[in-house]
Amino acid sequence: KIYPCILCGGSGTRLWPLSRKSYPKQFVPLVGTGTLFQASVLRATGADFAAPIILTNSDFRFIVTEQLAELGIDPAAILIEPEGRNTAPAVLAAALHAHGADPEATLLVMPSDHDIPATADFQATVIRGLEATARGQIVTFGITPTRPETGYGYLELTEAPAGDGAAIPLHKFVEKPDLGRAEAMLASGNYLWNAGIFLFRAQDMIAAFERFAPAVLAAVRAATDAARVDLGFLRLAPEPWARSPDISINYAVMEKAPNLSVVPFDGAWSDLGGWDAVWAVSGPDGAGVVTRGEASAIDCTNSLLRSDSDGLQLVGIGLDNIIAVAMNDAVLIADKRRAQDVKEAVSLLKSKA
Ligand code: GDD
Ligand code: MG
Repeated sequence: KIYPCILCGGSGTRLWPLSRKSYPKQFVPLVGTGTLFQASVLRATGADFAAPIILTNSDFRFIVTEQLAELGIDPAAILIEPEGRNTAPAVLAAALHAHGADPEATLLVMPSDHDIPATADFQATVIRGLEATARGQIVTFGITPTRPETGYGYLELTEAPAGDGAAIPLHKFVEKPDLGRAEAMLASGNYLWNAGIFLFRAQDMIAAFERFAPAVLAAVRAATDAARVDLGFLRLAPEPWARSPDISINYAVMEKAPNLSVVPFDGAWSDLGGWDAVWAVSGPDGAGVVTRGEASAIDCTNSLLRSDSDGLQLVGIGLDNIIAVAMNDAVLIADKRRAQDVKEAVSLLKSKA
């Protein structure tokens, strides 16, 4: 069986005011029913999957247990990172933990901020990667790019994808390129976006850290060895953990490892990085309008209007390209084309506090 590992220690300032420091985007109902965290957990359940390993920090531990209980899912482990050191140490901690329990363990690492509606397709795609992981490959999942996005990783293919969807060896992994490079990669047609999901045997990931990020391995191994069980949470030891470099898995391992493969994923996939992305996956009507909660639109186009406050009515008239989100204690009204600037609202409020 595959061990799903859910990364849910990040914050999402571009989805303010719904996403808050103490309650970030992965734990709030953003699209559909349930939360993105719950959707991520459910995406990897069924006959092929073991119970999930959750990687988060102390602040979110009870949100995690509560949201898992709502699903009736018992996790294999909830690992608590003493502080956020980015995804490389988190992924490695999961690999070391799983390897301790099962030296042959295969892990599926998933972020918790994505919308991937087609679960059956997604699982079939993951299963197609197992042939490559059995050969010691670290498998990535590739999305056909549609714009020169600079916030994603790019996967350079060695050959055109075969019709059967089998894993193909990767030539190179390029994390977050500048715009010029992203435009060139998009134009070449030889690159896919990295979906941010990885399938690998624990032993192969540990070996990759040994070779390419030994400082992370030393720190995280010590933190895992000295971990302490506390109310069912596994608390990684703070002092060795703090010695780990703060680095993402992509910079630490993916840009360097030679044993990478990619399985193309054809289903819908969205990194819900901003309100414009939330609008796009929420099924805009013929005029491009999305309303949610007690919100109404009169003669509006291309806009998202939502009230996340019980009893608070939000009405828009004659709006175009507007994001309006009302909460009990905060309201955002923004030009949809400036959705990425919402993080500036958070900085502004912080400076005033
Ligand atoms: N547990 C834990 N600890 N989780 C973390 C931490 C941490 O310190 N930092 C981030 N995460 C979680 C986030 O909550 C998110 O679910 C996931 O790890 C990925 O982190 P992001 O910060 O969202 O990464 P990104 O979006 O910039 O880039 C990644 O995803 C892209 C696709 O969405 C990369 O893998 C890119 O290559 C990829 O294209
Ligand atoms: Mg992300």
